[in-house]
Amino acid sequence: MKRIRVSAPGKLMLFGEHAVVHGRPCIVTAVDQRIEIRISFNGENELIINAPQLGIRSYQRTVSELGGQEMPKQVSFIEAAVKKFYQQYGLKKGLNITTHSQFSHTYGFGSSSAITIATIKALSLLYKIKLSDKKLFDLAYQAVLEIQGVGSGFDLAAALWGGTLLYKKGAKVAKRLKIKSLPLIVCYSGVKADTPTLVRQVEEYKRRHPKKVKRIFDQMEKITLKAKNLFVQKKWLAVGQLMNKNQKLLEELGVSTQVLEKLIRAALEAGALGAKLSGAGGGDNIIALCLPQKKKSVEKVLKKAGGQIMKVKLNSKGLTWQKT
Ligand code: PMV
Repeated sequence: MKRIRVSAPGKLMLFGEHAVVHGRPCIVTAVDQRIEIRISFNGENELIINAPQLGIRSYQRTVSELGGQEMPKQVSFIEAAVKKFYQQYGLKKGLNITTHSQFSHTYGFGSSSAITIATIKALSLLYKIKLSDKKLFDLAYQAVLEIQGVGSGFDLAAALWGGTLLYKKGAKVAKRLKIKSLPLIVCYSGVKADTPTLVRQVEEYKRRHPKKVKRIFDQMEKITLKAKNLFVQKKWLAVGQLMNKNQKLLEELGVSTQVLEKLIRAALEAGALGAKLSGAGGGDNIIALCLPQKKKSVEKVLKKAGGQIMKVKLNSKGLTWQKT
């Protein structure tokens, strides 16, 4: 029986988080921590999901009754993706779906979005339905919004196209930057962030302080657009300064924490050219820009400050697939 395998990378936000939810540009890079989905028809009316790393074995739902139930997070994204695709194309065959992840969802590399877009791609291959990248993105974005309610879709874009992208909400812009290397250290803070809660917190803050937040987002936009060129030109000193400025603005927005700032300070003191939180804030990762000669000492102080160095490759390739 025909089986489709699709693999999607994780993501890391470099510049412009939160502002991107409100229509401003961000820069995101794909991370070589990948998640794989395997899909085949099972000849029944059931969707059967196995995600052994999450302890999910033979999770079962009737295809005509997908969605609307309390279920483990990753399963809910798969289910929403299947439901979207099946509604769009009037389909109803049962499926076996298995996932395999190279990373824990704890690290904030975007496993939910990666699995959602991988599911839609796999379904299009299984059913031999031609989907443009934009259509694929749109279906996945709708599925994610159905579960999460909020988000810019930057993580879906990174999973789909890979590389390092200048991105605007809804994939209005998704422009690949010609970047060869990104000398960044990624360090997990030990605290799991809850992205939707932080996005809603910033939305509320914006309602109460519209002028202040507009100023913050205006500056973030300028920083992001400057950084886009400086990355390509490898002007690391200037990129580092922009990271520090972006971090200060995130602090003003109220999404940074003492744990993150301790790590950022440690990295800068040990010789990083710039450092900031990456993503929604509240926890997850910080990134530190670091020339090779300083890498070891920066990593050492980060570990001492309680961080966990994430050995990841950035600027990785987007969706890949094979039929077996
Ligand atoms: O927390 P992360 O790494 O998923 O990043 C969230 C980035 C936000 O801009 C805050 C939200 C979004 O969807 O763009």
